[in-house]
Amino acid sequence: MPASPEITEAAVESAVDAALTALAAASDTAALKAAKSAHAGEASPLAALNALLRDVPADQKAALGKLVGQARARVGQAVAAREAELVAAEEAQALAAEAIDVTAIAPLRLAGARHPLTTLMEQMSDIFIAMGWEVAEGPELENEWFNFDALNMDADHPARGTQDTFFVEPEDRHLLLRTQTSPVQVRSLLDRGVPLYVVSPGRVFRKDELDATHTPVFHQLEGIAIDKGLTMAHLRGTLEHLARAVIGEGARIRLRPNYFPFTEPSAELDVWHPTFKDGPRWIEWGGCGMVNPNVLRAAGIDPEVYQGFAFGMGIERTLMFRNGVSDMRDMVEGDVRFSQQFGMVV
Ligand code: FA5
Ligand code: MG
Repeated sequence: MPASPEITEAAVESAVDAALTALAAASDTAALKAAKSAHAGEASPLAALNALLRDVPADQKAALGKLVGQARARVGQAVAAREAELVAAEEAQALAAEAIDVTAIAPLRLAGARHPLTTLMEQMSDIFIAMGWEVAEGPELENEWFNFDALNMDADHPARGTQDTFFVEPEDRHLLLRTQTSPVQVRSLLDRGVPLYVVSPGRVFRKDELDATHTPVFHQLEGIAIDKGLTMAHLRGTLEHLARAVIGEGARIRLRPNYFPFTEPSAELDVWHPTFKDGPRWIEWGGCGMVNPNVLRAAGIDPEVYQGFAFGMGIERTLMFRNGVSDMRDMVEGDVRFSQQFGMVV
């Protein structure tokens, strides 16, 4: 205990000043609580001065009581005022922190992207739908007869060995993974009859090594048109239209003599465009020709009355030279970043 403390104006004033300074310095409600306990609590200097009132002479009790009482009241009001300030500030801060901007653009949740091969096949099919053609699908697990025999490639036909085939056991069921979309030509002839205008996009399989320009699982778009009086000129015009619509106005096509058992005459189809990545040049796109009369006969159609043309081209190749994809392996790895470059088409 300090030697006989006394209630003086100076002591009261100094206790009040210390209290007001500490209250002003309290920057949050926790600090305020500590300041309040130190300067207005039971152990505070003002409480100590108040306790001395018991021992002051009776004639000074009223004056000193008023001095200490007013001082305690001032400090009490200052505590209340500071508390109101700090609570309001903390509330405002909490509201700001929890605020939700309902006009903000929500972060994109990546739902994936359709594969560009899928969208390209649809785009190519749509070009034919716009001309009144139909779209047909055929099975990937195909009968040997549809994939080869009906296409004028019988068992000992040399061309049968040019497309290395995945046969499916047991062998005597004569099932295989189709090596081309051409079996859909025969299926469409049998199912739909003539006149016939059909395209068929789909997946095909060959024992090819995966490299920059080949994959063992790839896609083709097949087309067949059978009607009275169709000629090579119709084939050429159709392919020219397709090339321009899918690759660009500047596209040109070229037909080079070739051999397919199911067309006669047959041609290799090349395409050219000024914007090709490696410069304007001719690139093999697919095969085509006038449908071989033997194929029509196999489907019960009289080749003396109906003629037509067929074509088939690779979709991976189309994407490669249309979009400048230099490595086909990028298309099959399933990395969504590849697909995203082509836009998030849903
Ligand atoms: C055929 O598959 C014939 N069915 C095309 C046809 C249809 C001719 C109708 C006549 C009438 P070819 O084997 O050349 O033909 O393959 C056609 C196209 O498929 C090729 O030009 C190429 O673009 C693509 N292609 C072939 N093998 C692969 C492969 N391993 N990976 C990616 N694309 C391939
Ligand atoms: Mg070829």
